[in-house]
Amino acid sequence: MINLVLNFKYETRKPHQALHHLFQSQGPIFKKKFAGFELVMLSDPKDIECAFRTEGKYPRRFDMVPWSYYREERKLPLGILLSNDEQWKETRSAIDKRLLKLNAVQGYSKIMNKVIDDFIAYLLRIRGKHGVKNEILGFESQTFRWSLETILSILFDKRIGCLQEPPSHDGELFHKALIDMTYKTSSLIVFPPYYKYIKTRYWNEFCSHWDTMYDIGLKIIQERRNKLASMKIENSKEDEVDFLTDVMLRSNLSEAQLNITLLDLMIGATDTTANTITWTLILLSKYPGKQEKLHKEIKSISKDGEDPDSETVHNAPYLSACIKEAMRLYPVIFNLIRQAKEDVVILGYQVPANTPIILNLYELFRNEEYFPEPEEFKPERWLKDEDDNIPRAGFKFLPFGFGPRMRIGRRIAELEMHLLLAKLSQKFVIGCNNLDDTGMIKRATLTPDKAVKITLTERP
Ligand code: HEM
Repeated sequence: MINLVLNFKYETRKPHQALHHLFQSQGPIFKKKFAGFELVMLSDPKDIECAFRTEGKYPRRFDMVPWSYYREERKLPLGILLSNDEQWKETRSAIDKRLLKLNAVQGYSKIMNKVIDDFIAYLLRIRGKHGVKNEILGFESQTFRWSLETILSILFDKRIGCLQEPPSHDGELFHKALIDMTYKTSSLIVFPPYYKYIKTRYWNEFCSHWDTMYDIGLKIIQERRNKLASMKIENSKEDEVDFLTDVMLRSNLSEAQLNITLLDLMIGATDTTANTITWTLILLSKYPGKQEKLHKEIKSISKDGEDPDSETVHNAPYLSACIKEAMRLYPVIFNLIRQAKEDVVILGYQVPANTPIILNLYELFRNEEYFPEPEEFKPERWLKDEDDNIPRAGFKFLPFGFGPRMRIGRRIAELEMHLLLAKLSQKFVIGCNNLDDTGMIKRATLTPDKAVKITLTERP
């Protein structure tokens, strides 16, 4: 019994490691029973490609039952994260252009820089408050504030106050509810959906975390809607208005569909970027030589005293390489989940249509065959003039997923992370006071398993 409980904890809190052991013992393809389903697990790019090639125009994501059942109970639409087929396509088309178009995204760099300035000022205010010089405790929570503030500014032209002192109550509540909801999800998805019949306290708490996020999201959206109703914006160009206004003016999404999709964007945008940037800083602290190389690059391309903008970071290959390499070692979303559309043969095994297929990025990104010295932080492997054998081609590197269902916020995430890292490395020497004992755990995404202690020391 004790073994069962320990194993359950291990599988739900450190699933990347549990799966790593299974791949080691069972090879590149195996079946795993999970919540009453039989899943097929893959980690080799050739097999991953084979699975993706069957996905067609409307790739189906395997149902995240606790989430979709919550929405069904509250009579809410499924939104972009959970819907499939035509319903998904309708939502996705309504927002794709605005989030994926390079020009539209570059237009956000001013807003992003404003949030970054406030974030750095906030970090300096809380720095050292725990009694250790230059140390910021719980850096992963602080970056969540930055990412939430950024996405709200983009979506609604709204500052929520996560970076003020004291930080906004809603921001804190949203963060806590997201962490608690995803923590409970890891346990709920392991079992068949008993909560459809018995409403346990655990299930009710799970729903109340969702309610908290939904209520906060709705409050912000409603405020913005009211403001818009009192303004006259009819023929404005898309890059002159904020995201919500643009989507409201140009799409046929119902109010309920748009509300839930905006909430999905808030959820998708926060923990992912917050943790990716935290892992990047941890790695740069561990490899001071690489950090200096990055600093030199940023210094060489930035005009004195001016903020790095989308053009500056576009000309900074090492900056981009550092973030890519952090995403390789710490892919915050470490599984892509699809449902086979039709029968497919993978490695000689017949996989019937509708089988859930899990594509394990963590295992793939640490595969020595594709990434020599896989445990090493080597941003150089992404630079054209330093490595002829860049592993980005094909299906070897998919931190943002693949195909029509690929992550919609890629350009936003890259730009905001590049701008923040450029500014931090321009101004500070970055250190970490608990480098050696920081491991990875699954919360909303793969996150550090303890409060990260980052130090920021001004450069002369
Ligand atoms: C480092 C940052 C991020 C990473 C690593 C990341 C990763 C991913 C991955 C792997 C997927 C699944 C793709 C697939 O199934 O093929 C995904 C989906 C999604 N992401 Fe992100 N993401 C990040 C940031 C963002 C941001 C900033 C936003 C919002 C602006 C966002 C919104 C979404 C949405 C809405 C989906 C679902 C798309 C759909 O089903 O059509 N993500 N993300």
